[in-house]
Amino acid sequence: MSDIKILGIESSCDETAAAVVVNGREVLSNEISTQIPIHTLYGGVVPEIASRKHVERITQVVDLALKQAGTTADELDAVAVTYGPGLVGPLLVGVSFAKAFAYANDLPFIGINHISGHISANYIEDKDLKPPFLCLVVSGGHTHLVRVIDYGRYEVLGRTVDDAAGEAFDKVARAIGLGYPGGPKIEKAAKDGDPDSIEFPRAKVADHPYDFSFSGLKSAVLNYLNHQRMAGVTVNTNNVAASFQKAVVGALTDHAEMAIDQFGMDKFAIAGGVASNGALRASIEALCQRKGVKFYRPAPILCTDNGAMIAAAGYFEFENGVRSGLNLNAEPSLAL
Ligand code: KG4
Ligand code: ZN
Repeated sequence: MSDIKILGIESSCDETAAAVVVNGREVLSNEISTQIPIHTLYGGVVPEIASRKHVERITQVVDLALKQAGTTADELDAVAVTYGPGLVGPLLVGVSFAKAFAYANDLPFIGINHISGHISANYIEDKDLKPPFLCLVVSGGHTHLVRVIDYGRYEVLGRTVDDAAGEAFDKVARAIGLGYPGGPKIEKAAKDGDPDSIEFPRAKVADHPYDFSFSGLKSAVLNYLNHQRMAGVTVNTNNVAASFQKAVVGALTDHAEMAIDQFGMDKFAIAGGVASNGALRASIEALCQRKGVKFYRPAPILCTDNGAMIAAAGYFEFENGVRSGLNLNAEPSLAL
């Protein structure tokens, strides 16, 4: 069987990214141009600025990914691109670029679901991982507990009914003055805090045990901060960060445990930006050890948005015979 080399392009939020991956597992290049320093000025991603930055950078990032991989367009087998979910302007930049690139180089073109991309990062990290397995996808926009039935085939067991886990990290970080992006800053502050100092709630969603809810937790943190300030008490932000992180990690781990118990699968994976959080990785790893389940987690650079995960997902779609038409549009609310 000859090797399949795919160019993956990702631009759904604030990273302009492109990568070349062979057979969905071997990364030849993974270029990421982050816009975080720009959006930090505004405390969050400004969609219009993100779109413009993607336009400015995408050609250069793709050129660099090809160069780093030591390859050229005529050696590729296909182009894969995120077409949803995400911010419509940023998605359109990637989709339009990928279409033009595929057309100009006479290559097949494959639209990829961003969440499927996050899950597929696990195939890169662990060359032997094969479905079926369970996967917890936790990012800035999504919180999904998924049963991976086969490559590219998913059953969503539960999802967030309000804020995503990463969104909660970002909002709480802003409230305690840590700035954007909140996840890494909360994780750092939490290292110097006491996770048992404040009891924050772990919400459950009535009648939907696999769904998540984080807006109540966020409100509980805001109420706590207001209370302390009104009482003239100086807030220990490290303690707030540690206690909040413990509540999020606890809720995510509880859901994971329920799914492991119910579905009896022997493999559990995590994915998405929040999956780079050390406390979450340790908690799910301990759970998996307790249950005798093998634990999979991508390296942090493959957890946050990148092109390699899109190329990996693209490979399995390519092998399944999936091809997209050049009329494919960006779909901001695309479901898994
Ligand atoms: O997957 P991702 O790069 O983009 C989306 O698809 O949303 O995830 C970004 C999210 C942000 O909310 C960020 O705060 C969070 O992942 N994040 C973290 C950590 N690193 C990134 N959350 C908790 N701990 C981290 N170390
Ligand atoms: Zn993402």
